[in-house]
Amino acid sequence: MVKRTYDDNTVIIFDTTLRDGEQSPGATLSSAEKLEIARQLARLGVDVIEAGFPAASPDDLRAVQRIAREIGTIDGPAIAGLARSVESDILRAWDGVKAAAKPRIHTFLGTSPSHLAMLRIDKEQGLDLIRSGVTLAKSLCADVEFSPMDAGRTDTEYLVQACAVAVECGATTLNIPDTVGYVMPSEWADTLEMLINETPGAGPGSGVIWSVHCHNDLGLATANTLAGLTRGVRQVEVTINGIGERAGNTSLEEVVMAIHTRKSFYDLRTNIDSTQIMKTSRLVRNYMGMPVQPNKAIVGANAFAHESGIHQDGVLKNAETFEIMTPEDVGLTQSKLVLGKHSGRHALRVRLRELGYEVEGDELMDVFRRFKELADLKKSVTDADLEALVADEAAHKPEDHFRLVDIQVVCGTMGLPTATVKMLDQDGEEIIVSAVGTGPVDASYRAVDLVIEAPNELLEFNVHSVTEGIDALGEVTVRISPIDSPRTFGGYGADSDIVVSSVKAYVAALNRMISSLGLGDMAPEGEAATVGLSAS
Ligand code: KIV
Ligand code: ZN
Repeated sequence: MVKRTYDDNTVIIFDTTLRDGEQSPGATLSSAEKLEIARQLARLGVDVIEAGFPAASPDDLRAVQRIAREIGTIDGPAIAGLARSVESDILRAWDGVKAAAKPRIHTFLGTSPSHLAMLRIDKEQGLDLIRSGVTLAKSLCADVEFSPMDAGRTDTEYLVQACAVAVECGATTLNIPDTVGYVMPSEWADTLEMLINETPGAGPGSGVIWSVHCHNDLGLATANTLAGLTRGVRQVEVTINGIGERAGNTSLEEVVMAIHTRKSFYDLRTNIDSTQIMKTSRLVRNYMGMPVQPNKAIVGANAFAHESGIHQDGVLKNAETFEIMTPEDVGLTQSKLVLGKHSGRHALRVRLRELGYEVEGDELMDVFRRFKELADLKKSVTDADLEALVADEAAHKPEDHFRLVDIQVVCGTMGLPTATVKMLDQDGEEIIVSAVGTGPVDASYRAVDLVIEAPNELLEFNVHSVTEGIDALGEVTVRISPIDSPRTFGGYGADSDIVVSSVKAYVAALNRMISSLGLGDMAPEGEAATVGLSAS
């Protein structure tokens, strides 16, 4: 377990993957998935988890309550719930976080001219709302954070007034958001320095923590966040893989690795165990169905790959020639052959544990069976393969509404690509159908659509190879949206056959859509659908 310690040079890592990150298009998560991500964030060592926006829906409230109870232990992170500066939101946020050992209410109000206009209030009324909101929050919870939303476009004089009112009413953290990703690093640094020095009651030595929350619309979120650290900011609000509204938030891994790698420049520290970064990144990618671009700093597939001959030669002679951090620093293990096909279940469990996965019971049996099958197909089974198998098992659960049992596809240049799928519904009923399509994946998806009648649009489809080589496992992430709905759902699948991974990812996304929208069992009545074969 991570031991969190604090001094004046500690940067508090406030992770908002489950709140701002979950606001990314397509990032809908079930409450069990949120809990699992929160557990991994705690292992990573974040100091605060913003678990959600409890007033947004009863589901959000329940998820925050569960995370507060199960992850917000005395040795764990603080658990924050977001609230607008209105009574009902603040009461709901408190209801969400109060079971945590270290609860926090994070309340906000838009302070820029356009946000005040949207709320149809003037500056004085804005200050009144901040006063009443923070006072109520403080009467419930000792740890209160206030954010003047759209601070990047708010005049500085009003920002000082808003922050001063929040501190006077008991806020202990002042978070300054660049909500629309508008500011430039040097002007942002100047603004933050001015705020820290000129806000009454919140200057150096006052005990108030200054924080930044940056969006990435101009690709400057990390630069703006780091600029704040050079002027006295000591909390950063970040998400895993930089996910979030529009172009996303500041990415946790970029800020943390900048602080760790450039210790001599910043002279700061964090409580993050950086070797947990890759695992956390993959978990978020898989659950949210949001792929990470290959050249993404720190966690992209190419972040540590050296392609040119000169680079390869240099790295082989001395890794430092072209590497400023090692793959191991971020938890990217280099081990090639981890286990052979004669390895037993015990060896597999031990290796998984070394990689940070506690896999037991039926789940271990399933991963072991998949490992044996893979070891028969591949010359070497790597750590990355094992992690993909564990992720695939986690993405497909016994409580799923529908499960893929078998699939057969015929395709090529002659005849129509045809897929036959055998699926099980929740009652254990077997359904077998066939369909034709423009290619093997299209035919398979059409067959699945005959079983799961949940009309949707396929928004994104990504295939990625886990390792190099023709025998590599293929990972697929998809995003779908119900017809005429803005909501989107992601799915993940991994298999040595990419058509199988594709179908698994699609079925995972459909299961998530059904769970979330409560459409229940949508299997066709009775026998298999029109072009289908009868169930055996
Ligand atoms: O971007 C933003 O301003 C926010 C606030 C709620 C902190 O997410
Ligand atoms: Zn935000």
